[in-house]
Amino acid sequence: MISNCLQKARDFEREHMKRIQDGERPCYHLTGGTGWINDPNGFSVYKGEYHLFYQYHPYSNEWGPMHWGHVKSRDLVLWDRLPIAMAPDEQYDKDGCFSGSALELGDGRHLLMFTGVENKKTDGIIKGFQTQCIAVGNGIDYVKYEGNPVITSKDLPEGVSAVDFRDPRIWQEEDGTFYAVVSGRDSDGNGVVFLFRSQDAMHWERCGEIDRSRGKLGSMWECPDFFSLDGKQVLLVSPMAMKPDGDKFHPGNGTACLIGTYDRESYRFVRQDVQPVDRGIDFYAPQTLLTPDGRRVMIGWMQSWSNSKFVPDGVKYFGQLTVPRELSVHEGRLIQKPVRELESYRGKAVRYSDIVVSDETELEGICGRILDMTVCVNTEESRGEFFIKVACNEEYETVICYDPYKETLCIDRSGSGYLCDIVHSRTFRVNPVKGELNLRILLDRYSIEIFVNGGIQTASLTIYTDQKAQGITFRSKEAAKISIEKYDLVF
Ligand code: FRU
Repeated sequence: MISNCLQKARDFEREHMKRIQDGERPCYHLTGGTGWINDPNGFSVYKGEYHLFYQYHPYSNEWGPMHWGHVKSRDLVLWDRLPIAMAPDEQYDKDGCFSGSALELGDGRHLLMFTGVENKKTDGIIKGFQTQCIAVGNGIDYVKYEGNPVITSKDLPEGVSAVDFRDPRIWQEEDGTFYAVVSGRDSDGNGVVFLFRSQDAMHWERCGEIDRSRGKLGSMWECPDFFSLDGKQVLLVSPMAMKPDGDKFHPGNGTACLIGTYDRESYRFVRQDVQPVDRGIDFYAPQTLLTPDGRRVMIGWMQSWSNSKFVPDGVKYFGQLTVPRELSVHEGRLIQKPVRELESYRGKAVRYSDIVVSDETELEGICGRILDMTVCVNTEESRGEFFIKVACNEEYETVICYDPYKETLCIDRSGSGYLCDIVHSRTFRVNPVKGELNLRILLDRYSIEIFVNGGIQTASLTIYTDQKAQGITFRSKEAAKISIEKYDLVF
């Protein structure tokens, strides 16, 4: 039985999606059918297909009572829109179905684990109490478990917040046991990731604490993910209220990758290193899945909370997701690469080898807004700052600048169509490898994702530049020796 609340949202979406023409959306980055989206949720394989849900408020371009939007794909690139999966239609989630995860059960059902939010007045103030809940379905329709909520603040140590307790990430181990990491906030303000276990995914007990912010890495840690990768254990978290830390973390919400070791018997995670996940402007709350061929693939919300109220007039949706990225750990560093499936959408290659540029140069065949382009700078034979402008014409530009003296990369979107005073640039250190700086740039109508030196660093940002700005130029203050390989992406 579909609730009125869900039916209303599905009908609304179907009707209002007609207002948005294809060209008004990104070409290969996901958006909601209508309205607002934030975190990716329930990224999973079900019956041989990839399923992805997202935090969704279909009714406006602003955050509101959260639904779960739903899409599926065979190759992680092209997605089919499915009916909205969940609406806030129960007492325990009446104020939102917050973020969560999914897996395929042994009996062929698809299980969603999410946070139910119920606003209640306590001491005269309305607070959103958060509990963990289950829904089970067939890949299209989902029924919320009658025993919900399955984890409540009663399952937490004393003093831990009942209001900041969310974003369960479920998985199943080979022996059949289900585990979930869930974020909480301790009475001292620290973010904590708790571990729960269950034999049937419905009855849960707390069995450990994975890590906490220790007064250093922000407060509440949102959207945890926890998995082994290349002999290491990775904890991804999106901390709120971070203090700045050099060019690693900017103030406010950010996303951190904690790399360490994990003892499955004692549930002990030993943190060895903390790395930023993305150095750009718009990236948050990523989630991963394991593909049938063993790849750990991550997708993130390509947006930042602080900038989320400033979309230019006329944009008919809000929020995009990144391209799914294959993860690995190499020499202790998290590496990200666009999923290899994207390469099968490449058109004809346009290549330039070892050309020298100084004055601003346009190159034949190098232009457009939907493309996959790698620019390789020979740092030994280049001098002076080097600039790539994309999405440019007389009026607009987004600039990527490599400064060889400071060894930094700067992205600047102040000329990208945003007419508000938000963060428009970031600068971070990069290290040439064997005399080369390699920049793979995925350009879509409304975003840029940059993968530096094979994905050792990434930088993602949204742009709202007029689509007429199709230009790409190269310039060096002195002389830069570069090679370029560019493919239009054709869908
Ligand atoms: C992260 C987040 C989650 C929460 C969701 C609500 O962006 O704040 O912690 O579940 O968004 O939409």
